[in-house]
Parts: sequence; C-alpha cells; structure tokens
Amino acid sequence: MSRFAVESSCLPATPDALRALIEQRRAVRRFLDEPVADEILRDCLEQAVLAPNACNLQPWSFQVIRDPELRRRLVPVCLGQNAARTAPVLIAVLARPDTWRESCAAIIEQWPEPQVPEKIRDFYQRTAPFQYNQGAFGLRGLFKRVLYAFVGQRRALMRQPNSHAEMRLWAVKSTALAAQNLMLALQSHGLATCPMEGFDEVRLRKVLEIPRRAVPIMLLAVGRAAENGVYNPRLRFPLEQRVSWH
Ligand SMILES: Cc1cc2nc3c(=O)[nH]c(=O)nc-3n(C[C@H](O)[C@H](O)[C@H](O)COP(=O)(O)O)c2cc1C
Repeated sequence: MSRFAVESSCLPATPDALRALIEQRRAVRRFLDEPVADEILRDCLEQAVLAPNACNLQPWSFQVIRDPELRRRLVPVCLGQNAARTAPVLIAVLARPDTWRESCAAIIEQWPEPQVPEKIRDFYQRTAPFQYNQGAFGLRGLFKRVLYAFVGQRRALMRQPNSHAEMRLWAVKSTALAAQNLMLALQSHGLATCPMEGFDEVRLRKVLEIPRRAVPIMLLAVGRAAENGVYNPRLRFPLEQRVSWH
C-alpha cells in the first residue's frame, strides 16, 4: 500500500451512511434560535478544505459570521430571505482566483516532507505560474490563447485558464466542491444549511470587506432546522434526462 494511503484508523464511509447523509441534506430556510459551537464550525471547515481542488492551490476562503450586528446588516443584503434572517451563523464562501501565487509559495514552504521533490518545486515555480499568470489587462492570457491555438493544431493541450474570467471559473469549480463538503459536514453534526446566491453582491462586498478579486459564490445559512424549515418536497429529474452512458 502507498505510504500516502488514508490512515487505517479512518473507517470507510459505508454506501448507506453516505447516501443517508446526502439524502438528509435539504435547503432549509428557517432555523431555530440556537447558537452553533465554534468547535463544530471548525471541524466542518477542516472537512470543507479537504475537497479536491485544482493543482492543490486551494483557491477559496471563508468568512464565518456569528456577530448578531453583522448578521443583521446582511439580512437586507440577502434580500430579506428567511434563511439569512433566522440563521445563527452565515458563512460567506469566496472563490479566490487571486491567491494562486501565494499558494504556490506556501506549498513549497509547507511541504509535508523534509525534502520538496524536484518535480513539485518545478511545477509550483514554473508550470503553475505559466498557467495562471494572465498578466496586466490579461495580456499574457491573450498571448497564451494565440500560442495554444497554434500549437494545439498538432497536439492535445490544456488550453485554459487564459483570461481573468477563466481564472474566476477555475477558482469557482474548486470552491463549489469545498462548499458541498462543508454542507455535508454540517449535516453530519445534525445541522442544516441553505446555500444562497440571492444577495446583492455590491452591498455584500462592502459589508464584509471582500477583496476586490475574490468571488463570493454563495452565502451559507447554518443552524438547527426549524420544523417548517423545508418549504417543498424534493424534486429531481430522472437520471435518463440527464445522464448518457457511453
Ligand atoms: C448556488 C446555489 C444558490 C442558491 N441560492 C438560493 C437562495 O438564494 N435562496 C434559497 O432559498 N435557496 C437557494 N439555493 C437552494 C436551492 O434552491 C436548492 O438547493 C434547490 O431548490 C434544491 O433543493 P434541495 O437542496 O432541498 O434538494 C441555492 C442553491 C445553490 C446550489
């Protein structure tokens, strides 16, 4: 077995237990007026950041909002949604297309072995900066697009991201996976969540002092579900409408 295998003390999740957790999670829009312990939030955030992510650059950040005054200010920002109004905790989930450079350095600095393998050092010092640096006004990205269009005629290439817009998409993919981990981890503690994209982004940025290039992808309302917290029965389309098998 590889020396990096999962520690044997970790029990594998059984299919039934995982299915139950996934099925139990619903978008909950009303919460009980009960605080959530910081240790639980911390435990869940630790699980959130175990999500798979692009090049392990972990392009996300989270703001955990417990302060009642700040939460009160966020209610109108969330357009008065009941979830925002009643949740004892809100978590702003931010995609961070702007942190790849410091993450490259941090990976080398914090490498969990005495020696950083040469391949790793090379990747984070040369390959990743080539991939992710789009340059002033995206000009390096534009150059890469032209280069890839030319070279790509002869061989398969990874062609993206090569613009600031594609960097945002790049970061959002990984961050959405972390958000789902976070929701399931909270669910495993018997807590409920509501992911919300229904907010005024301009006002949210002001209230939370979100860095200019960060992308707030959702606000999570977190707490213990009130009895009438789920509004509708679950509806999902049959797999046949959404899955093709090849
Ligand atoms: C990106 C995203 C944004 C969402 N925004 C809101 C929102 O602003 N308000 C809300 O009440 N629910 C919101 N939801 C919850 C969805 O409406 C809900 O997940 C969907 O209806 C399916 O229901 P279920 O999660 O209970 O299975 C959002 C979900 C996602 C993933």
